[in-house]
Amino acid sequence: MAFKNLAILKVCIFLLLSLLPLLPIVHSHAAPIVPPESICLITTNPSYCKNVIANKNGTIFYYARISIQKSLSRSFKFLNLVNFYLRDQSSLSQPTIRALEDCQFFAKRSFDDLSKTRDTIDKPGELMVTQVENVHTMLSAVLANQHTCLDGLETTASDEIVKNVLSFSLLDDTKLHGVSLDLFVKGWVRKKKKVITSWQHNQRKLKLSNQLRAINDYENIRAKTINKVIVCQDGRGDFTTINDAISAAPDNTSPNNGYFLIYIKAGIYQEYVHVPETKKYLMMIGAGINRTIITGDHNVPDGYTTFDSGTLAVLQNCNIYVRRPMTGQYNVIVAHGEVNPNANSGICIQNATIKAADDFASMVGEVKTYLGRPWMSYSKTIYLQSFIDNLIDPEGWIDSTTYIPIKGFYFAEYNNWGPGSNTKNRKSWPFYHVINANDAAHFTVSNFIHGNAWLPVTEIPFSEGLI
Ligand SMILES: *[C@@H]1O[C@H](CO)[C@@H](O)[C@H](O)[C@H]1NC(C)=O
Ligand SMILES: *[C@@H]1O[C@H](CO)[C@@H](O)[C@H](O)[C@H]1NC(C)=O
Ligand SMILES: *[C@@H]1O[C@H](CO)[C@@H](O)[C@H](O)[C@H]1NC(C)=O
Repeated sequence: MAFKNLAILKVCIFLLLSLLPLLPIVHSHAAPIVPPESICLITTNPSYCKNVIANKNGTIFYYARISIQKSLSRSFKFLNLVNFYLRDQSSLSQPTIRALEDCQFFAKRSFDDLSKTRDTIDKPGELMVTQVENVHTMLSAVLANQHTCLDGLETTASDEIVKNVLSFSLLDDTKLHGVSLDLFVKGWVRKKKKVITSWQHNQRKLKLSNQLRAINDYENIRAKTINKVIVCQDGRGDFTTINDAISAAPDNTSPNNGYFLIYIKAGIYQEYVHVPETKKYLMMIGAGINRTIITGDHNVPDGYTTFDSGTLAVLQNCNIYVRRPMTGQYNVIVAHGEVNPNANSGICIQNATIKAADDFASMVGEVKTYLGRPWMSYSKTIYLQSFIDNLIDPEGWIDSTTYIPIKGFYFAEYNNWGPGSNTKNRKSWPFYHVINANDAAHFTVSNFIHGNAWLPVTEIPFSEGLI
């Protein structure tokens, strides 16, 4: 997930949960041998899938392995392509170079994830629960990475050739990676019977609390912790950046180990906050509203927060300040695009304040700002009970050239207020909804991320339902 041009995310309660399969151990020997046509029907792109797995009969596992192997080689090629353009930067504009650097960052991660995926599924025998979970989230992350890279390129006005070559490659690769994800899910991931129970198997959490806690309040967090670290820019803590602290958290811990608690002292943190999918039970607490601030790490006004995972997130009581974009750009607050219905994820923003930052306030009328946009085939974004200022365009949501409207888009607004909240002139899309309290209740902390089951012990205040 990525926030595009979300320049200042004042630290707020930030709750995440990744959904997991319930019964992921699969007896691969029991799978029937079938022709590609029938296997491909289960994917979101049957014709593309058929090209990928050619004219051989095999099991779902066989097909998935072929597809993932191809995804891996394709991601390697893509990384090389990006490296190639970055090698000679003299003819490129600064925004293009930055977009390319972002793409390089995400392409490396995709390549690593696909390598790990390939290694995991090529081993004989059954996969463990956690292996299936990890591969599922890695393949979902690969799709999200594609999106983030493409998104960066699209907002780059110059260097058309670089942009066109890479976008073409990205769009095609995304189809392939989507097929890989679909086949993997079909083969290994058992359908969740009920979402409600899945949290018990594994939870991935991250919270940023804007509660006005005293500086040392984190000492009083009653939840069990495996370690507590302090991030402080003046060097008097354990780390000076949030990402260093996240890296220091042990991988794949279990709930019994307790939380890895990161206390982020006041300051403006200019970094991509990136949470790798191996980091579980992470808790982050800021120094309070307007004191701990996270922005992007580039000169361009981009702020990103990314998670390597098909993740559900609720942001509660946040201040979201949108900064001035580069000339010719527009702003999208949640440019989150899960690209595949199998990559289950979504974001809900509740009781937030959405305003222009100081550098943007005077020119709000000149640049359009949107609540979100679809990308490729899957995206779920919900705004509940938030203050939306006049910076948001009356259409609310923006179309994008790169989505394939299959199914799974879901954009909704419930009871927002403020000058930008009027839904009368919103996009008339079949997947855009002005929802009622009943529907909105699905996206609250208690229902969307089952927060009642795991949050109370942390003593971090949150609203479980509608407010
Ligand atoms: C694949 O299976 C179908 C029947 O399911 C059969 O008609 C076809 O000949 C098989 N193809 C190959 C290449 O074995
Ligand atoms: C935080 O900063 C914003 C803008 O600078 C200001 O409008 C708001 O009142 C501040 N909030 C608090 C709680 O200080
Ligand atoms: C909603 O947000 C406002 C402003 O940030 C805050 O004062 C209020 O306490 C929040 N409401 C709840 C129920 O958390």
